[in-house]
Amino acid sequence: MSLFNKFFFSISLFSIATWCSVFLSCTNDSALGDDGTVLPPVDTTTVEPPDTIAGIVCSPDTIHFEWEVLPILKSSCGRRDCHDAGAASSGVKLVNYQTVMLTGGIKPFMPEETRIYKQITHDDEEERMPPPPYDRLTERQVQIIAAWINQGAQNIRCDSSTIPCDADSVSFSADIVPLVKDACYGCHNQYVHESGIELLTYDDLKTAALNGSLVGTVAGETGYVRMPFGSIPLPACHVEKIRAWVERGALEN
Ligand code: HEC
Repeated sequence: MSLFNKFFFSISLFSIATWCSVFLSCTNDSALGDDGTVLPPVDTTTVEPPDTIAGIVCSPDTIHFEWEVLPILKSSCGRRDCHDAGAASSGVKLVNYQTVMLTGGIKPFMPEETRIYKQITHDDEEERMPPPPYDRLTERQVQIIAAWINQGAQNIRCDSSTIPCDADSVSFSADIVPLVKDACYGCHNQYVHESGIELLTYDDLKTAALNGSLVGTVAGETGYVRMPFGSIPLPACHVEKIRAWVERGALEN
């Protein structure tokens, strides 16, 4: 083989290798690096240990993705049959910051241009997410997601124990309901009963409060699977409020 042919032979081997890796990347969800090597698949399971943020004070004016946005996306959209690591409907995975940024069509500072924002606010019932029969996200949830995008869609992390917490004046309607709607409702409603449990009504929550599973799961007590399932723990203040509400008899106040 002449030097010239050798050159082309190696070029074609190289392209075959490249195309194989492109093909592989489509089938196993890996991406190609700048040098053409196959990058490992995005790790959608690990959550950064909370100690890396110890002492970082949370600012009340900042939307913290992990505390405020991710629970809404995970509970309403990132369930195992929809947009989780295994079932990425339409390629959208809403599992952690990395996958949301890679697959959610996020355009920082431009909610109207952002794919997931367009879908949660879509007027057409056929197009909107979560699709019927699931409820639309609440106005407050939509505002949180819009504010996060308007602040640059960053992953600002902080230590939730620095959030001022007034668990003494906890109320069912002002504290517990919005919290459960954001972080739990998507997996525990009339259509999706993970573990056979609905957390829709006062009675549902009172039952879980009195049998110990509400505090047990959110505080990650021994013998309970920590909730919200597959996410980082709730902010410390939310756990304190739930605990205070339960200890005071789980009133409908
Ligand atoms: C992404 C889906 C998802 C979200 C969000 C979620 N759960 Fe769950 N939940 C599950 C699954 C799955 C199980 C069953 C876990 C198991 O047994 O392995 C479960 C089980 C439970 C149980 C029964 C546990 C027991 O030991 O009796 C309770 C109570 C519960 N969840 C409460 C909550 C609360 C409170 C929240 C919100 C803070 C929440 N869940 C958020 C998926 C979810």
